Amino acid sequence: MTDPLFSAISESAPWWRVRPGTSLTVEGGAPLAGTYRISGAKNAVLPLMVATLLSPRPVTLNNVPASLDVAVLAALLRRLGATLDWREDVSGLSLTVTAAAIHAERIERDLVTRMRASVLLLGALLARSGEADLPLPGGDAIGLRGIDYHVSGLRAMGADITLSHGTVRARAAAGLKGADIRLPGPSVGATENLMLAAVGASGTTTIRNAAQEPEITDLAHCLTAMGATISGIGSDTLVIAGGRSLEGAVHRVMPDRIEFGTLAAAAAITGGELTLLPGVTGLGDATGLLGAADPVFRQAGIDLRPVAGGVVAGRADAGLAGVDIVTQPFPGFPTDLQAPAMALLAIAEGAGSITETIFEHRFRHVDELRKMGANITVRGRTALVRGVPRLAGAHVEGSDVRAAAALLIAGLGAAGTTVLGGLDHLDRGYDRIAEKLSAVGARIRRTEE
Ligand code: UD1
Repeated sequence: MTDPLFSAISESAPWWRVRPGTSLTVEGGAPLAGTYRISGAKNAVLPLMVATLLSPRPVTLNNVPASLDVAVLAALLRRLGATLDWREDVSGLSLTVTAAAIHAERIERDLVTRMRASVLLLGALLARSGEADLPLPGGDAIGLRGIDYHVSGLRAMGADITLSHGTVRARAAAGLKGADIRLPGPSVGATENLMLAAVGASGTTTIRNAAQEPEITDLAHCLTAMGATISGIGSDTLVIAGGRSLEGAVHRVMPDRIEFGTLAAAAAITGGELTLLPGVTGLGDATGLLGAADPVFRQAGIDLRPVAGGVVAGRADAGLAGVDIVTQPFPGFPTDLQAPAMALLAIAEGAGSITETIFEHRFRHVDELRKMGANITVRGRTALVRGVPRLAGAHVEGSDVRAAAALLIAGLGAAGTTVLGGLDHLDRGYDRIAEKLSAVGARIRRTEE
């Protein structure tokens, strides 16, 4: 991260204290033990922050994770003219955004291109002000390919969208109009983008083949609290009655099910025991957060015991065992837990496999795990993982947020020292994970430049 960017971020998110250009040094072998509070969900908070742009009134989000993506998006909202008010206490971080007036033309390339989720600004800005100019990561070279579902849905709602000089230019001078849209695939981002656009459109929008991830439901609940009318929440068909002006609201960001799963795997990998508290009430809610990963994790030898307000996670007496995992859209096994699960399978008894069906290039952690002694063979979309008794520390690089998390938890269980680069990725998606892990016994040092 460049320093001017860091300054923009620290002005907008003063709690972001991590300096750029860092790596982590992990001394493996210490079993994790203690209580670990699960933060608000990265994948929920980003669309929720964008949703605040739809109302001129204050919208308060509680349980906001202190991650780099949140800090970057905060800087973007501020550039667009919103006022941000942060509060931090024992229950976590809260953000109140007041977007009384929006200057859609002020989007900053440096900030936007750091975060794929900034594409959600298209729907919200079109709804609020009828225009958006959004620089794309990779610019013209990448083109509209990766966001084709978003673009064709917004076009169906009457937006005029073109790409030039690496920037998506979107206009809806006469306002967006409700439409009946069928997504070619259940894309999380496209579903969210079209929901955000639809609440500000005139008439009714139907989104068919919508993604059903819990983070979409969380967004729908917040939009409803702001005065939107949405039916079919949690299903694959969402019907949104647009055209109402939205009010202020207070919303609590749902817990991060991916952090939850990652930490459950870390407890089992290190042979320790963690009480994971996602901040939900009632038994059952906490284990329910893992969804399809729950039975798979148990089969792989993660012991998950419900306790009041959370789950105690550790290694089952029978030890870790190879399992076969196939990633699927919700309610299937989440692609975001694929890499952490691979770190576990790498030291399980026997062979297991992971088939990645959502993203094409999501095996970049494989080579890094191999550097640590893992026995993994990739054939097409399937990685065959033959467990070894123990991994060994190495210099590794996290190429995306989940890959970095996987390497971190692999390092916690490995013999010797692991040096993990690519920390920007880890910090993007996880709320101060190195610091939280240190508090439960991990031997981790952040090396600041
Ligand atoms: C979101 C999550 C990410 C998670 C992913 C899948 C956020 C901020 N990120 O990403 O952590 O891994 O869901 O659960 O919530 N696709 C297209 N065209 C499009 C849109 C998507 O071809 O216009 C394809 C993608 O290339 C991918 C698949 O659809 O193969 C799923 O992507 P999508 O669900 O959109 O993922 P994101 O919303 O980017």
